[in-house]
Amino acid sequence: MNKKNKPIWGTRIKGKTSGIFEKVSSSLKVDKRLYKEDIMASIAHVEMLNRQKIINFKIKNKIIWGLKKIQNQIIKKKYIFDYRDEDIHMSIEKKLFELIGEDAGFIHTARSRNDQVLVDLKIWMISSNGKLIKMLDQTINTILKVAEKNIYTIMPGFTHLKNAQPISFSHYILAYVEMFNRDKKRLLSNFNSLKENPLGSGALSGTSFNIDRKFTTKKLGFKYPTGNSIDTVSDRDFVLDFLYASSLCAMHISRLAEEFIIWNSDAFRLINLKDNIVTGSSIMPQKKNPDTLEYLRGKVGSCYGNLFTMLTILKGLPLSYFKDLQDDKKIIFETYDDLVISLKVLNEVLKNFSVNKNEMLNLADRGYITATDLADYFVKKLNYPFRKSYQITAKIVNYCEANKKKLSDLSIEELKKIESNITNDVIDVFNLKNSVNSKKSYGGTSFENIKKMIKKYKNA
Ligand code: ARG
Repeated sequence: MNKKNKPIWGTRIKGKTSGIFEKVSSSLKVDKRLYKEDIMASIAHVEMLNRQKIINFKIKNKIIWGLKKIQNQIIKKKYIFDYRDEDIHMSIEKKLFELIGEDAGFIHTARSRNDQVLVDLKIWMISSNGKLIKMLDQTINTILKVAEKNIYTIMPGFTHLKNAQPISFSHYILAYVEMFNRDKKRLLSNFNSLKENPLGSGALSGTSFNIDRKFTTKKLGFKYPTGNSIDTVSDRDFVLDFLYASSLCAMHISRLAEEFIIWNSDAFRLINLKDNIVTGSSIMPQKKNPDTLEYLRGKVGSCYGNLFTMLTILKGLPLSYFKDLQDDKKIIFETYDDLVISLKVLNEVLKNFSVNKNEMLNLADRGYITATDLADYFVKKLNYPFRKSYQITAKIVNYCEANKKKLSDLSIEELKKIESNITNDVIDVFNLKNSVNSKKSYGGTSFENIKKMIKKYKNA
């Protein structure tokens, strides 16, 4: 829209835009969030135009003066957004006309909104990606603190949610450090495509003006100019990369949340949540519900939804720019905001729960959890093949079940009845700490390994 609130294309398109279309067509409410990036990119663009003698010095300065004034107005909340404007680019251009007159029109020389919106978005995403990586670092630090305090906390490791083998709680929680480190790597690798500068691709075919894409690339902190103008304005792969990386991170958070919900349940009682992260019930006075964790578990839903929305928008979309693409920003911002909040909430949870060490140990002492250790013992001590050892152990477990005994309750005589070559030292095998500490293979749960891994993560 220009000063008289007529769109820029008013000379060509004489009829008034239908009200309902004007409403759906505008993305200003969403993309006004890109105002700083838009102004930054416009300044680099006009500086380049001036260096290339496409616009003169005076006009360049006038435009930059106007843009800076607009930025100030927006920051000070003195800028009135007219939501009939299609997007932040049109809004700022219109304002520039109001401030400096006709010369504002030089700003759009040798560019299109198709490359403009991408340059803004990429600048925003480079910085947002960086913020997420920092938040993941904080989360990892919080986890490391929990891990340091729980090296000797024994818990049952589960498969199929049945007691499997004893582990250290520290080893368990460090699994999430691996996941969040992978999330970081995914976000970091996104920089490769984010760092390609779209500015200068024009509407789709480039421009006949003698522009210097290398200048804007350097000025705006990109690494290279993009290589094909048609691909540039059509490409949203970098958006999908971000949505996928975010979805995986949200999924990791969701898994942790679900485990904590289970462990906090009255059936498990392995952890306690402090009052500041639980909510009550309106009818049941006794309740302390893990709503915060349920929020985290559920949030992944909208992340996946956004990933699929973007994939679907792009499916079969011909080259190059189409209005369909305008929704990308809503999707990205929503996902980013959700992930930021989720990571903040997760940090709060990790700082505000306690471990019921006794309950963990008690639960670990059930379900014949050292049966694998016993089978391993037969292999090591009696040189039996593992399959034979496995069968003997299964018989011992059956005997325990029939006689309502734990493995550690068995006397050496009882054990000898099933396997005559067994010796007294077998008793050590049923000790949970011994079991945990025996898993010395690289990446296993032994206490030494855990300490080494904590050190490694800290120094990373
Ligand atoms: N607001 C638009 C978007 O975000 C900018 C590009 C508009 N280009 C166009 N040809 N309508 O996609």
